[in-house]
Amino acid sequence: MKRVLQMDLGDRSYDIIIERGALAQAGAYLELSRKVMIVTDDGVPERYADTVAQRCAEPYRYVLTPSGEHSKTLSCFQELLSAMLRYGFTRGDCVVAVGGGVVGDLAGYAAASFMRGIDFYNIPTTVLSQVDSSIGGKTGVNLDGIKNIVGAFYQPRRVLIDLDVLATLPARQVRNGLAEALKMSLTSDAELFELFEKGNIYDRIDKIITRSLLIKKAVVERDERESGLRRVLNFGHTIGHGIESFENENGLYHGECVALGMLPMVSDALRPRLLQVLERIGLPTAVTMDPERVYAALLHDKKASLDGVTVVKVDEPGSFRFEELPFGALRPLLNTIPKE
Ligand code: GLY
Repeated sequence: MKRVLQMDLGDRSYDIIIERGALAQAGAYLELSRKVMIVTDDGVPERYADTVAQRCAEPYRYVLTPSGEHSKTLSCFQELLSAMLRYGFTRGDCVVAVGGGVVGDLAGYAAASFMRGIDFYNIPTTVLSQVDSSIGGKTGVNLDGIKNIVGAFYQPRRVLIDLDVLATLPARQVRNGLAEALKMSLTSDAELFELFEKGNIYDRIDKIITRSLLIKKAVVERDERESGLRRVLNFGHTIGHGIESFENENGLYHGECVALGMLPMVSDALRPRLLQVLERIGLPTAVTMDPERVYAALLHDKKASLDGVTVVKVDEPGSFRFEELPFGALRPLLNTIPKE
């Protein structure tokens, strides 16, 4: 079944097409009769980029190697732009991302920057990018160890969500993406949270992705450039980022860190239910690091203001509130995450 959601942003509006097999329909859904830079990475099955390339008049490819957040750099960004210049790309050509969030962020930022902006299409191939990062226009790269500190708001022209591509995704990556969908259910969709609590999650993946996209779309339409409401999408991310900064030590993925980061931000009554859901999905329920070290990492995050921090709190599934906290208030909150 095909479902089309429209992101309503005036002259930057676009369709989000959710359809099994959409990848093979790329020629019908995207304007590919021009030079097309397909951006992918070495973790994405090559046949996905091949499928798109076969439908392009003049396809080129940039394969980010190795895949992962550490490759989302200004030097890869420059390499990609240089390739487009070398192949004679002009304002009328386009970029297509075929991959997860890293690929989408890098490709989108290259599209935003090349000749001050050319068309960008996003074909996300992970649960995480399908439910969250592929829509909303956040693009960018990391610099000096700070995630997404350089970038632009640049909306895609169209997004193709093909649920069939998830068949090749490792199970842990699926769970990693479900953490972001769980995040949206907690702040904005009690019925979706109930599905996580009691339903058959893997049979209802289409519903989970569509409902998450509807939530994110509604938020972005009201606050495209994150001057207020859009910060709700950062639920669990403040502490999550602190945990993520120890990734070399704990080996956790982004969604897994966000899962843990949500625990201190829910009410005492909701926390046991959330822990049960995390266990049900197969997401971590405890940290290995000392809370003191996580707090120190939060203090070192140059994006955080030392005076205070705005966090998102959830008392009941489906509703949220923003809370201004002095930075030091994060320290006791860290004690609410079970320690391994
Ligand atoms: N992933 C958070 C946002 O797009 O604002």
